[in-house]
Amino acid sequence: MKIIGTYPKTRLRRNRKSDWSRRLVSENALSSNDLIWPIFIREGRNIKEPVKTMPGVYRYTLDKIEKLTEKAIKKRIPMIALFPSTPASKKNKNGTEALNKNNLVCKALKLIKKNFNEIGLMCDVALDPYTTHGHDGILKKNYVDNDATIKILVKQSLLQAEMGCDVIAPSDMMDGRIGEIRKALDKNGFKNTQILSYAVKYASSFYGPFRDAVGSLNLLKSDKKNYQMDISNSKEALREVAMDLSEGADFIMVKPGMPYLDIIRLIKENFKIPVFAYQVSGEYSMIKNAIINKTLNQDSVYESLMSFKRAGASAVVTYFADEISTKLK
Ligand code: PBG
Repeated sequence: MKIIGTYPKTRLRRNRKSDWSRRLVSENALSSNDLIWPIFIREGRNIKEPVKTMPGVYRYTLDKIEKLTEKAIKKRIPMIALFPSTPASKKNKNGTEALNKNNLVCKALKLIKKNFNEIGLMCDVALDPYTTHGHDGILKKNYVDNDATIKILVKQSLLQAEMGCDVIAPSDMMDGRIGEIRKALDKNGFKNTQILSYAVKYASSFYGPFRDAVGSLNLLKSDKKNYQMDISNSKEALREVAMDLSEGADFIMVKPGMPYLDIIRLIKENFKIPVFAYQVSGEYSMIKNAIINKTLNQDSVYESLMSFKRAGASAVVTYFADEISTKLK
């Protein structure tokens, strides 16, 4: 870029002098329309249980879910993401609870869809909330077997679609699952069910608090590096996205968020498609704890979310969705 203008004729601070002027030249905006609110659900009745590693985030029983949905709609949050905390007694090696018509996610979907149509519902497709080893798929000789896992993910996707899920969101990082899921959805009358592919999900250390929230933290004995992406790679992200798009993904997720802003930008520039960012649990807890300790102030939340808009994200999955949308009037 050629630099136009030199000091003292040009003073960039002139446009920053007053609030009204800053508003005129601001390049990006954040509104409730940009937010996706992840909600953890659990079994039982009338419980709002704090997640220890995520101050201000709770696991809710299903009797609380309608109120939360109403709140999200009132705040103009376009979509909720449902995450189940499955009791240990319902977990097993192959995560079969994922295919139970009466599991937590299915019950929540039915409950919400019965009463509300004006909000999107998104569900993770992966087995980690349901397996005793905490991995996203089927283990064969201690290796997550790609093709065996896809077979189950396809069934999980169909079940969620039947229960009313609007956006199927595979977060498992198996190869080829988007194409298989798309094919199954189309064949079974769900042509308009959208797929949000976690195409670019890194083997990150920022997921710890989430694993605590869904109860897989202590079960997981190793890392997820043989299916999630290497944190040092960016060109590989373009291949992941290209493949998932050709298999039928409607939008793409980059995850985690703030440490991977360069990836969001890279994808946006190369594909011109809707890219979402996931400000993951570890990012949330880092900022939240800093605010609680008074190391940072509240404005850091807005600033962290604006970074995603600047990088090119259409929307952000964030545990701050509820509190920040109150301020985004
Ligand atoms: C697993 C899944 C994870 C998250 C969403 N889905 C964790 C993992 O891959 O271990 C993390 C979200 C967060 O940290 O907020 N399928």
